[in-house]
Amino acid sequence: SGQHEALYREIEELKAKRNAVILAHYYQRPEIQQIADYLGDSLGLSQQAANTKADVIVFCGVHFMAETAAIISPEKKVLIPTPNAGCTLAESVTAAGLATWKKYHPGGLVVSYVNTTAEVKAETDYCVTSANALKVVEALPKDVPMLFGPDKHLGEYIRKVTGREMDIWQGDCYVHRYITSELVQKYLHDYPAADMLIHPESAACTDEDILKHPRCFVGSTTGIMKHPEHSSKDTFVIATEPDTLAELCRKYPDKTFIPISTEHCCEYMKLTSLEDLRNALLYEQHEVRVPENIRSKAILPIERMLHFS
Ligand code: 13P
Ligand code: SF4
Repeated sequence: SGQHEALYREIEELKAKRNAVILAHYYQRPEIQQIADYLGDSLGLSQQAANTKADVIVFCGVHFMAETAAIISPEKKVLIPTPNAGCTLAESVTAAGLATWKKYHPGGLVVSYVNTTAEVKAETDYCVTSANALKVVEALPKDVPMLFGPDKHLGEYIRKVTGREMDIWQGDCYVHRYITSELVQKYLHDYPAADMLIHPESAACTDEDILKHPRCFVGSTTGIMKHPEHSSKDTFVIATEPDTLAELCRKYPDKTFIPISTEHCCEYMKLTSLEDLRNALLYEQHEVRVPENIRSKAILPIERMLHFS
């Protein structure tokens, strides 16, 4: 629309003036995705944050993602347009909870999903995202206790695929908990020619019938984005946050994508509007800073993860 055009122009001008880069997650509103310099999943976005030459990173995503960028790039100014954009998963575990587990499991390894606060990362040995979790867990020694957190579905999925024994924190994502095996089975039945692309935070990923189903593929958001490229199928059911369809439809205009639910969206990801993005650049708000005593510890598990990827 015309109103968007004016905002887009203003954002581009401010971006040049501030030498800023706009990073956006695939779950952001489509109009935000459209103006991002880099659109990605949580792993890709943290790699971009590590490598950018910009002075300012404007992070259109949720708080833990911007915080991860601030941990990786302390010399840059990291801005989040909507500081109240949280994440139910990141909020499900505290640093004190991990410290207690470690006390009872001396020598144990804590593996945390990147959807965690800086304080939790500071108590973590290895970070993972859904894109590299299997690879990282498979590379770790088998003879020490392991705690995986905070996502119970991703944890159970990793345990089933790798056979690795581990304690699993019982957190979950309030969007992906509704993607159950019953729902996946219903769509497999209703779309018999489609492949089913499932994010591993989904409850369905703990069901072996789903994991061994020939039309079901489990992958991170980037894995889901790449799958259609190598598939002869024309139709795909997308079992994750529905705004991923914006990029899928843009990338593969000749293929058909069916969201498994349009009802369960990540409301935190939708908080950021174009006005908020413009204001972030205009007023250089809201800066995300991590105290150095936390940052110096939280960087270690992130660096270990980035070396694996
Ligand atoms: P990705 O690692 O696939 O980007 O997922 C992040 C997330 O928050 C999923 O809900
Ligand atoms: Fe967090 Fe779930 Fe939203 Fe991802 S979709 S940011 S895990 S609440």
